[in-house]
Amino acid sequence: MKRLALLLGVILISIVIMVFGYRSFSSHKFSGEVLQQPMKIPPIVLRSDAGPVRLEDFHGKLILLYFGYTSCPDICPTSLANIKMALSGLTPEEAAQVQVVFVSVDPARDTPEALGKYVKLFQDEFIGATGTREEIDLMTSAFGAKYKLNEHDANGNYSVDHTSFTILIDRNGYYILKFPHETTSTKMSEDLRYLIKNEMPISAQILAGPTYTPVVCAVTLIPSHVDGGEWLYQHHCAQCHGADMAGNPAWQTELQDGSHFPPPLNQTGSAWQYSEQDLINIIKEGRNLDKPIHMPAFKSTLANWEVKFIITYMKSKWDINQLNYQHGFMTLTPQATSTPAPAIPSP
Ligand code: HEC
Repeated sequence: MKRLALLLGVILISIVIMVFGYRSFSSHKFSGEVLQQPMKIPPIVLRSDAGPVRLEDFHGKLILLYFGYTSCPDICPTSLANIKMALSGLTPEEAAQVQVVFVSVDPARDTPEALGKYVKLFQDEFIGATGTREEIDLMTSAFGAKYKLNEHDANGNYSVDHTSFTILIDRNGYYILKFPHETTSTKMSEDLRYLIKNEMPISAQILAGPTYTPVVCAVTLIPSHVDGGEWLYQHHCAQCHGADMAGNPAWQTELQDGSHFPPPLNQTGSAWQYSEQDLINIIKEGRNLDKPIHMPAFKSTLANWEVKFIITYMKSKWDINQLNYQHGFMTLTPQATSTPAPAIPSP
C-alpha cells in the first residue's frame, strides 16, 4: 500500500513538473501574429549586390523579411527604421543572430546594387535582394504578401502598393510569425529576444501561442511496415507529393479554380493533424475530385494494408509531438490571435 502511495506521489509530481514546465515555456505573449501553421520557406534564389542569396543561407539565424521597394515614400523607410530600432534593443550578441532581408517587388527599378546601397542607409548588415517577376510572385504568394504596381505618371514614375508586415522566419527555416506594421520596436525586441533565448522545436512552434497538454507516450512504428510503405509511397504518391514528401512549396495557396497543389505529407505539412481514419478516407476516396488538381482516389488501386503501410511510412517522418497528437495522446487548444490581418496600405 505504502509503495503504491509512493508511486502515485512520484507520478503526480512528474505531471506537475511537466505541466508547469510547459506552462512557463508558453508564457510569453507574442506581439507578432503567430501562424497557426508554420510554413517551410520556399527555396527561391534571389540576387543581392553580394551575389545570389537564398533564405536557407541563414539557417541557424532568425530572419526578418520585408517586401518593399526603394522608391517607397514612407512605409518601407519607417518599417526598416523600426526594425533597426528593434535590433538596437537587443544585446550585440543577440542582434547578430537576426538577419534582415529586404526584398524588392520592383526589380525594374531596383537593381541589386541600388538595393544594397539603400538597405545600408539603415544598417550595414541588412541585405537587399530581388529576383525576376516570376520569382517575386512565387515568393510573395508563398508568404501571403501582396503588391500592385500602379499606373505610370507623365514622367514614367509609379508607386507600388504592398503589404507592410514583417515576416519572421525561425532558425530552422519556418515562417512562424508576422509583425503588423504598427508593432512598436520595443514589442518587436521582446518577441525577438524570446525567440533567441528559447530554442523552440518545430512541434512547439506549431503549438506556439496555444496551450497544450502533453502526455508521454510511445508510438511504435514497425520497421518492416515503414520500409514497405516507403516502396508503395514512391510508386503511387511521390510523383505528386515529392520523393521526400515535401509537397509543392506553394501548397497553401488556393489557385483561381479553387484547387491546391499537393501538400507535404512529412512533418512540415498538416497531414499529422488528421486522425488515422481520416487519412485512410482521404487516400481511399480522394479529395476535391471535381477540381483540375486533386487528390485521386486509391480505393481500387491499393489494398487496406497497403494504405496503412503508407501511413506508417508518413508517420516515420513526423516528430514525436505530432505522433502524440495524431494518436490522441496530446490535445491542442489554439488561442485566437487578437491582431487583425494587416491591410494593404493605400498609396
Ligand atoms: C496526381 C497527384 C497526386 C497523387 C498521385 C497523390 N496525391 Fe495526395 N494529394 C494531391 C493533391 C493535389 C492534394 C490536395 C488536394 C486538396 O486539398 O484538394 C492531396 C492531398 C493529400 C492528403 C491530404 C493532406 C493534407 O494535409 O490535407 C493526403 C493525406 C494525401 N494526399 C496522401 C496521398 C497518398 C498517401 C498518396 C499515394 C497513395 C497520394 N496522396 C497520391 C495529389 C496527389
